[in-house]
Amino acid sequence: MANREDFLDLILYQVYPRSFCDSNGDGIGDLNGLRSKLDYLQELGINGIWLSPCYKSPNYDNGYDISDYRDIASDFGSLQDWKLLIADMHARGMKLLMDLVVNHTSSEHFWFKEARKSRDNPYHDYYIWAEKPLTDWTAVFGGSAWEYNEATKEYYLHSFAVQQPDLNWENPKVRKEACDIVDFWVNLGVDGFRCDVLDFISKDFKEDKMLNGPRLHEYINELFGRDKVKHIFTIGECQSDEKSIYDICGKDRNELTTVFQFDHIHIGRRNKYTPQEFSYNEIRDTLVKWQDFSAKNDLLYMLFTDNHDQPYYLSRLGNDKELRYESATALATAFYMLKGIPLIYQGQEFGSVNSFFEDIACFNDIETVNYFNEKVYNKPLDLLISEINYGSRDNTRRPIAWTNEQNNSFGFTAGKPWLQMPTRASEVNLQNDLLSQKSIFKFYKELLELRKDNFVIRRGEFIDLTNGQNDCFIFKRALDNQSFITVCNFKNKKDITLPKELLNNGYSLVLTNYPSRKDFSPAFEPFEVAIYKK
Ligand code: GLC
Ligand code: CA
Repeated sequence: MANREDFLDLILYQVYPRSFCDSNGDGIGDLNGLRSKLDYLQELGINGIWLSPCYKSPNYDNGYDISDYRDIASDFGSLQDWKLLIADMHARGMKLLMDLVVNHTSSEHFWFKEARKSRDNPYHDYYIWAEKPLTDWTAVFGGSAWEYNEATKEYYLHSFAVQQPDLNWENPKVRKEACDIVDFWVNLGVDGFRCDVLDFISKDFKEDKMLNGPRLHEYINELFGRDKVKHIFTIGECQSDEKSIYDICGKDRNELTTVFQFDHIHIGRRNKYTPQEFSYNEIRDTLVKWQDFSAKNDLLYMLFTDNHDQPYYLSRLGNDKELRYESATALATAFYMLKGIPLIYQGQEFGSVNSFFEDIACFNDIETVNYFNEKVYNKPLDLLISEINYGSRDNTRRPIAWTNEQNNSFGFTAGKPWLQMPTRASEVNLQNDLLSQKSIFKFYKELLELRKDNFVIRRGEFIDLTNGQNDCFIFKRALDNQSFITVCNFKNKKDITLPKELLNNGYSLVLTNYPSRKDFSPAFEPFEVAIYKK
């Protein structure tokens, strides 16, 4: 892209390939399946895809444990299929972002297989070794972060699963390998990367910091600050307080284009597995805070509610039963009318929801399974089952229900799906949504169209007009003499004091999720939204 601001024209969609669409009946989503859905994605209005890992992997963490960075897992097809995919995407003007997982490799990567053989193996220094654990860190997926290796009589560090040994970024050879991987894909035409747990690449054992260590910025700059790759789009999965965000994606930092900011994701829960009371003011205030911070510091902000690591936002923070359409469209409006780069997670666009399974055998995610095994002897089973259903990453990793044909795996595969379909698939699927008077997909499409057609929504200034009113969010986007005012009511029916400037100033209603809406009526139904344009 010529100009950094142009990234604000992106509307991204995340694909978790294993669960998106299966083209050959083996029960596993694949690249040809994804290719077959490009028309659909284009119709929705997206112009870029972040593809979760599709590289060779033993799949302990479903592809986030890579054993060959330069080849496609046979489950998903071949490098040739990938080339056809990117060519098809580019022909449609869609960008492709690959997932870059370079904090760790798979324990089955050639480097690690060599490294663990002996202390003088040329690859030994590619990883982090110690005769005694240097810290008492717990791995993100449970247990100690240090694993003993008999052959060298040492421990290696794994911030995630045992099968995901951390690379040693202090070693210049490792940094060179990472650059070569980036270049390999850039040479094949990719437009950018989503960078997995990037802030873990620099650690500080003395200061007891598992991430955000002293050399982080130097490493990121070495990876992406190079002239050859400066133009690509990079999103980091990183720590996200103000200072770290500024340091990583400030305009002149030469590091990343942007990062995911997770404050709004943590709302409404005590921890990953336990909900807690929340108010919609919290969501609004968080969004306002980051809109203002981004404007002040000239940052590009990611607008997202869902990904493959979180249960559906709609199920946690909306009402996914009686008001599924209303709350799904209200959340979409509150996020995607803001300034930043929209990202939609697969299935979100037709209101996909969490599942409920009684049996741990219906779960696949290593994080969930480890958590279950760790707790099963000291927590009542009912509680544990309800916890994992609430928080499991499998909620958003279940295959997509494209149709309402139950005996055909809801259009996902002609075979047996690799993971059970969502429990509400016969009700919540794309086909039913499109047949409904209240189609979430159609609303998303109109909302994204509005964004595409109006420069002011992509570039305009953000101004909060809520004026302290509870459980609602009113904001303006303005540029030159154009403006939009968005009113979102969350939760219950109520009267909202509309901003004075909205009345008698030439605004007209352009989109709402309640056909009953009367232009400037103060009465708002549960999760009713209205978008006005001048
Ligand atoms: C990131 C990924 C997650 C993965 C982890 C380890 O958080 O999003 O899915 O398990 O990194 O690679
Ligand atoms: Ca397949």
